[in-house]
Amino acid sequence: MTIDPRLTASSPAAPISENGLFQADVWDGLGASPKALPAKYFYDAAGSILFEQITVLPEYYPTRTELGILDERGSDIAALVPEGAALVEFGSGSTAKLRCLLRHLPGLSAYLPVDVSGDFLREQAEALRGDFPELTVEPVVADFTRAFELPEGFGGRALAGFFPGSTIGNFEPGEAARLLDVFGRILGAGATLVLGVDLVKDRAVLEAAYDDAAGVTAAFNLNLITRINRELDGEIDPDSFAHRAFFNEAASRIEMHLVSRRAQTIRVAGRSFVFAEGESIHTENSYKYTLDSFRALAARAGWASLEAWTDRDGLFSVHALRREG
Ligand code: TRP
Repeated sequence: MTIDPRLTASSPAAPISENGLFQADVWDGLGASPKALPAKYFYDAAGSILFEQITVLPEYYPTRTELGILDERGSDIAALVPEGAALVEFGSGSTAKLRCLLRHLPGLSAYLPVDVSGDFLREQAEALRGDFPELTVEPVVADFTRAFELPEGFGGRALAGFFPGSTIGNFEPGEAARLLDVFGRILGAGATLVLGVDLVKDRAVLEAAYDDAAGVTAAFNLNLITRINRELDGEIDPDSFAHRAFFNEAASRIEMHLVSRRAQTIRVAGRSFVFAEGESIHTENSYKYTLDSFRALAARAGWASLEAWTDRDGLFSVHALRREG
């Protein structure tokens, strides 16, 4: 008897097309109650450009504040990373923060950016090799939310991890702890992890950062509708949805929603979904921590706090953690 190759671990099931996955996720999300869509679909070409624009908005303090902390505390951070270590970055976005860190860590032997987008990784690796000729740059194409293997030869080396951007805040706290544990398994006992974590603060400051006057964050959120219309044969009137971002203090998170301005039925790839006036699609969370609430989360995931730095106004934090053995 021949075994269906799709049933064996070494040859996974024929992949569903990316568009098929997108459609399944959108159908699932719009069919759920309350309605929600996975945030990963923000980042098509238009979404990625809009996100870059968000990071330089006057109201969006995280990017410039984190960069300031990394630059100001660079030598303190360097003291916690062993000479000759390899630095693993989980998800590789714009390289401004990484370049800042690299300038403070001349003793690093290698940089390993981990990302699902191979093309993006290769482009960035080329540029970095030009600017840091001493550094071995070894991109790893992988989904960092699952355990993956580092390339041959890096297992024995001292390792450090880098996870900027308060991306940890876009995961549910339980998922965030699981993710930190995955990082710990990859980096191993004794490793240092440097990560950016946005802090709880005044509601008005938080809400402005996710609902800017120029409407860039609104355009970023609404781009999901445009993408559904284009890629999934959707017939949604983008003007019938409004961007809404607010601080849910009980859950300590910014929530982003697309709110239906009227009662309507929308169609996506041949299926209908009914909206009441004011009913929303939940599209993103951005959890905010205190220094202590984040240390507690890290401790649950097997990481001890070495140090934490903030800017003068206490807007944002950079933590250095050590993986316990
Ligand atoms: N992690 C950052 C934050 O939560 C960046 C980010 C992720 C973001 N999704 C977003 C910013 C949606 C604005 C809107 O701030």
